[in-house]
Amino acid sequence: MTTPRTAPAPGVIDLRSDTLTRPTPAMREAIAEAEVGDDVFGDDPTVQRLEQRTAEMLGKEAALLVPSGTMANQLAIRTHTEPGDEILVEANAHLFCYEAGAPAALAGVMCRCVKGERGIFSGAALEEALRPADVHFPPTRLVCVENTHNRGGGSIWPLERIVEVTAVARAHGLRLHLDGARLWNAAVATGIEEREYAAAFDSVSVCFSKGLGAPIGSALAGTRALVERARRFRKQYGGAMRQAGIIAAGALYALDHHRSRLADDHAHARALAQGLARFAAIDLQPASVQTNLLYFNIRGHPAPAVVQRWAQHGVRALATGPHTIRAVTHLHIGPDDVRAAVEAMGRALEEMSPGP
Ligand SMILES: Cc1ncc(COP(=O)(O)O)c(C=O)c1O
Repeated sequence: MTTPRTAPAPGVIDLRSDTLTRPTPAMREAIAEAEVGDDVFGDDPTVQRLEQRTAEMLGKEAALLVPSGTMANQLAIRTHTEPGDEILVEANAHLFCYEAGAPAALAGVMCRCVKGERGIFSGAALEEALRPADVHFPPTRLVCVENTHNRGGGSIWPLERIVEVTAVARAHGLRLHLDGARLWNAAVATGIEEREYAAAFDSVSVCFSKGLGAPIGSALAGTRALVERARRFRKQYGGAMRQAGIIAAGALYALDHHRSRLADDHAHARALAQGLARFAAIDLQPASVQTNLLYFNIRGHPAPAVVQRWAQHGVRALATGPHTIRAVTHLHIGPDDVRAAVEAMGRALEEMSPGP
């Protein structure tokens, strides 16, 4: 029998994403022992436990297990809207930038962008993006918020800002969806519970497969009626699964064992930022790091070339633009990895700098 690998390739420090984590042996054991049934018939007790637990944590009536964060967001959009409607999204939102045009392709809705600062926008910015009721315009239905904000650099929405934005949305009769793929990180970083962040939203998506380290799985939570409508669209989108208890077991294990340790990822991200900020080629404010995601600008060389050189030195990061790089801490990154990564990245940058 082969030993299951729990970490990425030895010798490589992989900072590209927190989705790279592999299930630990204990998580694999929980998955192997999961009680299962056909979830399309409502027969999987482990899925039911996960859905109840998730709904409770988010302060909602019900939740629905789905294969991915993308499906959770897109089901939310489809569930809140009808084709021809418009939704308001922040310009760098994952569900707008990185979900393959699904709002248009699957829900048939238009996206109108609101400009935010590190992904966080104001009530006034939302107000400005609203259109008057007029036969020429698509009906605006839904406002989407992302917390923590991925492209915002793992930024956390302050509760007061959520109150401000959701009040404007409600005053205009709009519905609200929270993309909480990394809501766990926000909760652990601030001590504000997930349900408090979720309270003002009609629907919330969360992921078990990012910082929490489960191999698969996300959920969409809301009222019982909303979840029942989403369940039909989940079937339509091909996301209804059979013995999905093996997925739910990994997620339950992750909630029990990997949620509070997200604080370690945040500390490692801060240490990484402090180490990298010392290099002249890197433009990064360590004080801006709130959770596990770092985005920074690189001077002097194109980001893809820098990332390629780092990979030759055993550190993987992601070029997210011509001058922008992302580095993410996660379950497989410890303090020694952070130290080794900073050292290797510095050596690589030195090699790349022009000689005297
Ligand atoms: C904020 C946010 N929402 C949604 C998703 C989509 O999740 P998935 O990759 O499981 O589809 C991601 C993925 O990284 C994300 O960062």
